[in-house]
Amino acid sequence: MTEKHTLAVVVGSVREGRFGDAVAAWVAEQAQEHGGFEVDVVDLADTQIPLSLPGESPKYAGDTYPRPAGMASLTASLTRAEAFVLVTPEYNHSYPASLKAAVDWHFTQWTAKPVAFVSYGGAAGGRHAVLHLENVLTELHAVTVRDGLAFPNCHRTWLDGRPVDPQAPGYARTMLDQLAWWAAALSAARATTPYPA
Ligand SMILES: Cc1cc2nc3c(=O)[nH]c(=O)nc-3n(C[C@H](O)[C@H](O)[C@H](O)COP(=O)(O)O)c2cc1C
Repeated sequence: MTEKHTLAVVVGSVREGRFGDAVAAWVAEQAQEHGGFEVDVVDLADTQIPLSLPGESPKYAGDTYPRPAGMASLTASLTRAEAFVLVTPEYNHSYPASLKAAVDWHFTQWTAKPVAFVSYGGAAGGRHAVLHLENVLTELHAVTVRDGLAFPNCHRTWLDGRPVDPQAPGYARTMLDQLAWWAAALSAARATTPYPA
């Protein structure tokens, strides 16, 4: 049997009355059914994430980076993850500040790991948010996965916590297949050779 890889499904929105937790729950369900992952839903609403950062960079500080005590569980989840799905809405043609803050408090936790995206929103379906995230994750030496899911007009195209589009589970499977491939390849590579960041 193929080894399972730890997958963090990150709920990027912390907005009151958010839609994002329903999207993340569906993504986590698809990942469980896929069979290639140990799935961990990482909800940014569970952590106070200050906007003010320490003076030094998390890139160079490593384990000594002075994060708030309440961030330990989030940091542990990101460290443990061998792959990520970032579930993001679109706010003003980008992704939410909660997600940027969570990214910026960490660095090595993303490095040489694969990241896929599931976005949702109004007319744009989160596509602008994902384009911005792809740029940011590249700076952290993450590997962004080509296939993802975007749900425009999510409040009208989801019913009872599921997308109405019958093709959505198939798209999710393709994304998860690619993510599992990268997770296996990059986990093996990290185990044999330190990444030259
Ligand atoms: C501050 C704000 C800005 C938004 N900007 C956009 C946008 O630029 N493009 C878009 O397609 N939808 C936009 N929307 C719609 C959201 O993507 C949609 O309401 C979504 O449900 C928000 O995710 P959440 O409910 O998980 O927080 C915006 C919503 C908010 C609250």
